[in-house]
Amino acid sequence: MRGERTAAQGPTRTAFEGLEQDAAAQLHPAVRDYFAGGAGAERTLRDNASAWDALRFRPSVLQDVTHVSTATALLGSPVRAPVAVAPMGYQRLAHPDGESAMAAACAEAGVVMTLSTYATTGLQDVADAGATGPQWFQTYVLRDRGVTTEMLHRAAAARYAAVVLTVDAPVVGQRHRDRRHGYWLPLQGVRLPNFGAAAAQATASYSTDLESALTPDLLAWVRETSGLPVLVKGVLRGDDALRCLDAGAAGVVVSNHGGRQLDDAVPTADALRDVVDAVGATPTVLVDGGIRTGADVLKALSLGASGVMVGRAALWALAGGGRAGVAAYLARLQEDLAHTMALCGAPDLTQLPSGLVRQTTR
Ligand SMILES: Cc1cc2nc3c(=O)[nH]c(=O)nc-3n(C[C@H](O)[C@H](O)[C@H](O)COP(=O)(O)O)c2cc1C
Repeated sequence: MRGERTAAQGPTRTAFEGLEQDAAAQLHPAVRDYFAGGAGAERTLRDNASAWDALRFRPSVLQDVTHVSTATALLGSPVRAPVAVAPMGYQRLAHPDGESAMAAACAEAGVVMTLSTYATTGLQDVADAGATGPQWFQTYVLRDRGVTTEMLHRAAAARYAAVVLTVDAPVVGQRHRDRRHGYWLPLQGVRLPNFGAAAAQATASYSTDLESALTPDLLAWVRETSGLPVLVKGVLRGDDALRCLDAGAAGVVVSNHGGRQLDDAVPTADALRDVVDAVGATPTVLVDGGIRTGADVLKALSLGASGVMVGRAALWALAGGGRAGVAAYLARLQEDLAHTMALCGAPDLTQLPSGLVRQTTR
């Protein structure tokens, strides 16, 4: 049955295990592989998760953790936890309520919803569904600047609070699982409404839509066109993070696109250290890739991130249970973060003990 767990699975699984298996059982194999897969031999996909697993806490004792708060602000928006759901395309292939359910669950949980350019629900409908929560709009610079301009204007009019500009896809990664399925997705009835009049062509043309000549002046162009703060997503090096800030970015998202673009790119936990060393504590630095649990979130914050994005974990929760599934997952994530903070001696996010994580030597 939908979302039901067997007694044999229950007691031995943590609250976060099994999200993918529960969801995958309900999805067409081509959709499951499109969501789950990475580029090349999927080494970066695997390394993202194992890099968080390889960090261990050095908890601080003799701290008063009677009250623990996970609240903070991301780009000026108050959030109940330093979490954003990552932009992911085609969410109506996971659940009929797609991006609207995701946005409503984010608003309920008090975390940021990031809507993909390749959303299967229009940006105004998603803004309405998650109106009580902070929302960001992810854009690519498309070769058709007219379509990009129109999208950015509509995002600003719909009151998205920021633009997330993805820069790690000058060309599309080699996703062998998709190739094995003949690049077949059950797209009947699935539209990409953010493309406006160009939606019909966009459905089939991801690889030809994207601008390959991404330069820092395009970042300034996105900022001026939208009138919104810009977070640059897909940064893995300190020097690139500095170039983004110099070009006017409000911050960066340390990301390798969940291992879907360049295989053998560094895991994001490693890249985060480089970026934080280069830019310091002031700009917004988010990180994503392999983050599922509250402990993963605290590890990222301990390395200097301002917050995290969660990708597939939220998508599996959507597939498994729609809005309620995502809301339950995000609530568990916040609880797990608070619980881990208490055990680490951190009553709130401004008081993380120094040197809270270290690489395991085993
Ligand atoms: C199915 C799927 C679709 C995605 N679509 C986009 C997208 O449209 N734009 C984008 O910037 N990133 C996209 N991403 C990458 C995510 O935003 C994020 O970087 C990645 O999923 C984080 O890794 P995680 O899934 O391990 O949490 C997508 C990821 C997945 C799994």
